[in-house]
Amino acid sequence: MKVAVFGLGYVGLTHVAYLAPFHDVIAIDIDATKRQQLLAGEDYLHEPTVGEMLKKHAKKITYSSTPLERWTDIRAAIIAVPTPNQADGSADLSRVEAVMDELAIGLDKDAYILIRSTVPPGTYAHLLRRLTLQNRTDLHVVMLPEFLVTGQAYADVVAPKRVVVGTLDEGSEAFLRSMFDYGIKIPFVFMHPDSACLTKYASNTFLATKIAWINQIAQLADIAHANIDDVIKGLSYDPRIGVDYLKPGIGFGGGCLPKDVHALATYAKTHGQPLPLLEATRKVNEDQPSQLLQKLLGYFNHSIEGLTITILGVSFKGTSHEVTDSPALTIMDALTEKRANLTIYDPLAMPSFQKERGSTYAFTVANDIKEALTNADVCVILSDLPSVKELKAIDFIRLMKKPLVFDGRNVFPLAMMKGVEYYSIGRPVVKP
Ligand SMILES: NC(=O)c1ccc[n+]([C@@H]2O[C@H](COP(=O)([O-])OP(=O)(O)OC[C@H]3O[C@@H](n4cnc5c(N)ncnc54)[C@H](O)[C@@H]3O)[C@@H](O)[C@H]2O)c1
Repeated sequence: MKVAVFGLGYVGLTHVAYLAPFHDVIAIDIDATKRQQLLAGEDYLHEPTVGEMLKKHAKKITYSSTPLERWTDIRAAIIAVPTPNQADGSADLSRVEAVMDELAIGLDKDAYILIRSTVPPGTYAHLLRRLTLQNRTDLHVVMLPEFLVTGQAYADVVAPKRVVVGTLDEGSEAFLRSMFDYGIKIPFVFMHPDSACLTKYASNTFLATKIAWINQIAQLADIAHANIDDVIKGLSYDPRIGVDYLKPGIGFGGGCLPKDVHALATYAKTHGQPLPLLEATRKVNEDQPSQLLQKLLGYFNHSIEGLTITILGVSFKGTSHEVTDSPALTIMDALTEKRANLTIYDPLAMPSFQKERGSTYAFTVANDIKEALTNADVCVILSDLPSVKELKAIDFIRLMKKPLVFDGRNVFPLAMMKGVEYYSIGRPVVKP
């Protein structure tokens, strides 16, 4: 089968890697740099297995800015372009619409359009109206929300926990099963297209709320001199609660959770049904970086001018190279404003950090984690990088002027930090 994939980011490129062994794939992106990188065999996504699969099945993949003359025989088009927030918070559908318009011109009769971008309820009817205006009532549109987690995108696309299918079309099931040959039993959950869109938002906003909630409990743990690790352990045996996403820290970030919480809150408000819970999730998350910041500033009586502060991790999570909406940025901006000298270690995310803040303020880049700690006054952990997890208390003790650590990701068990002055989230302070 010939398949076109629009948008070669986390969702689209991972699909190209997954589909290429079974189908001929036309991989389309408007970003010429990305296309050149892919043609040169460069892996900008840094997702396990994706780069390998793209190389192995390169002969089955055609990179392009548009399908052009290759339109013939395309049976399915996957749309995986961004849906960022507009100024009012609502999802911007302009990129999805642009691709739909292109598809309306070129696709063969009876082809399938699979929308994997995250879009709000109502989008299905909106897109169908657009196709009708272009006399394309023969195309099948399926809302197929994607649930992958960055850092494990390939594994999630190859073996999703479930496939939520929003369709009014009886032929979709057979078509999708033939296209996505999972080889293992994966539940397909069929529903109305609007329910499918809402399922995706419900999923992301639930996870975001879980994070915001445990961050609130962690604040209480600080006041009560309790230990949030123990509280989470006590919760984790209850299958009604589960342990995933109960990870206190400086808040959630990245390209999905903040965007989707904002989009759903805006959708609810514009439809006359504001959701106070979601508004609270946003507010709690926006305030969360200041919890760690205030601990640090309080320690120094708000005077940190001239201190050398080592920042370990700037991405929104340790396996990502993205700094989009990373709460680490809020903390670093505040420290810089108070004239601290930052030495930053995060090799994977450094290119996107340089792009984001390189021309805003000065900082030192460290390429080696131990070099980053050497002679530092303070170490601030803002992302759970694998290399940070490998550090031992002795590294802080030997390398820093004085072993003083503020950990915004609760990377280390308290018992491992003997000899270090160690502040974390919702846990007792460790004194040397
Ligand atoms: N990243 C995730 O974890 C994730 C998970 C599930 C769903 N989603 C959703 O999937 C969608 C895509 O997310 P992503 O993270 O893969 O985005 P991304 O930013 O990583 O990649 C999107 C790509 O689309 C390209 N693009 C933009 N307009 C285009 C157009 N008109 N034609 C062709 N290409 C175009 C961009 O150049 C970019 O390379 C979003 O709606 C997102 O909310 C993302």
